[in-house]
Amino acid sequence: MARINANYQKLRAGYLFPEIGRRVRAFEAEHADARVIRLGIGDVTLPLAPAIVKAFRDAVDEMGTTSGFRGYGPEQGYDFLQDAIREHDFTSRGVSLDRDEIFISDGSKCDTGNVQEIFGAECTVAVTDPVYPVYVDTSVMAGRSGAAGSDGRFAGIHYLVANEANGFVPEPPASRVDLAFLCTPNNPTGAVATREQLTRWVEWARRNDAVLLFDAAYEAYIQDSDLPRSIYEIDGAKQCAIEFRSLSKRAGFTGVRCAYTVVPKALTGTAPDGERIGVNALWLRRQTTKFNGVSYPVQCAAAAAYSPDGLKQTGEQIAHYMENARLLREGLGAAGFTVFGGLHAPYVWMRTPQGMGSWEFFDRLLAEAHVVGTPGAGFGPAGEGYLRLSAFNSRENVTLALDRILEAFGS
Ligand SMILES: Cc1ncc(COP(=O)(O)O)c(C=O)c1O
Repeated sequence: MARINANYQKLRAGYLFPEIGRRVRAFEAEHADARVIRLGIGDVTLPLAPAIVKAFRDAVDEMGTTSGFRGYGPEQGYDFLQDAIREHDFTSRGVSLDRDEIFISDGSKCDTGNVQEIFGAECTVAVTDPVYPVYVDTSVMAGRSGAAGSDGRFAGIHYLVANEANGFVPEPPASRVDLAFLCTPNNPTGAVATREQLTRWVEWARRNDAVLLFDAAYEAYIQDSDLPRSIYEIDGAKQCAIEFRSLSKRAGFTGVRCAYTVVPKALTGTAPDGERIGVNALWLRRQTTKFNGVSYPVQCAAAAAYSPDGLKQTGEQIAHYMENARLLREGLGAAGFTVFGGLHAPYVWMRTPQGMGSWEFFDRLLAEAHVVGTPGAGFGPAGEGYLRLSAFNSRENVTLALDRILEAFGS
């Protein structure tokens, strides 16, 4: 008898974005003339930068020649990309990493889920609330939770509330936890952690022998160079943190697929007999067994994102999205809405007007302004009463969406 993994039965049926998609399709079917503007799902909209397209194309051409053809590549990624990452993302910030501490992958989504299998099934997990849902659902799949309660929270998972009082950056948990997911700049709230806050997290992790699973998918959106971009800018973090980075939002790779995970060799976990085991070697073992690497053209395209032209062109794209974020943040703020985020992240987190519930505001925003947002409650119960607006869109759509929101809901 092929028993299923019963943990999957604990998951809530509707994942957030399919439910949003269902409601938008139903609305559009009844209102064929409505021009719906999507500021919901966090996906980039600008085309790939020219320097990236050229490198991508050249690599495909190279693969079509006898001398340039390549089969399987190194599972951990090509040296040229690891070196570009080391140089640009770390050395420039005063962090030194060895090449074999960087693992190129096809996405941070899968890495944040997959990384859990190198830790014991009994490890406890902490997440923020609201949270990027992948951390929770993959923890449930891995058997690290009990059943979901009526509020949608899973028994056994530690939820750290991110709210207005703590600026949407929770302090570390008071109780002992083995694995803690931290996302900064944050999806969905757009909040960013300061050096002092991250220092407290690192000190907590070291004191408790916990591992921080640090998701920096939006690091390129940080506007203030004094804010840390990597957890390894904090002393002691190599002993307690794994960092996830993605080219999805920094270089428009959501459809191309390239990311990387840093697993420092200084990071260890405990074996059942108490021996300290290097986590880097475990992740290498996992990747070489289950993953055959990212395609050569994609890695060439990713490396081009770090070339002078690539950096300039992707920098302009980020500036475009951040100007959208500024327009949303300031436009809504000036009209009396309470808004957060949008300063170092492409997301604006707005309090729903008139005390509406998240889904009620979502439905009314769609019906009355023809704008799609993401209900905060979809990211966890503490997101109730908020809605996330994404800055990933054209300037025209963002200004039109803003005008419509102000017209429909402005006082
Ligand atoms: C916080 C966060 N981490 C990871 C990802 C996924 O990144 P990737 O496209 O590399 O899988 C996203 C995508 O929306 C995200 O918001």
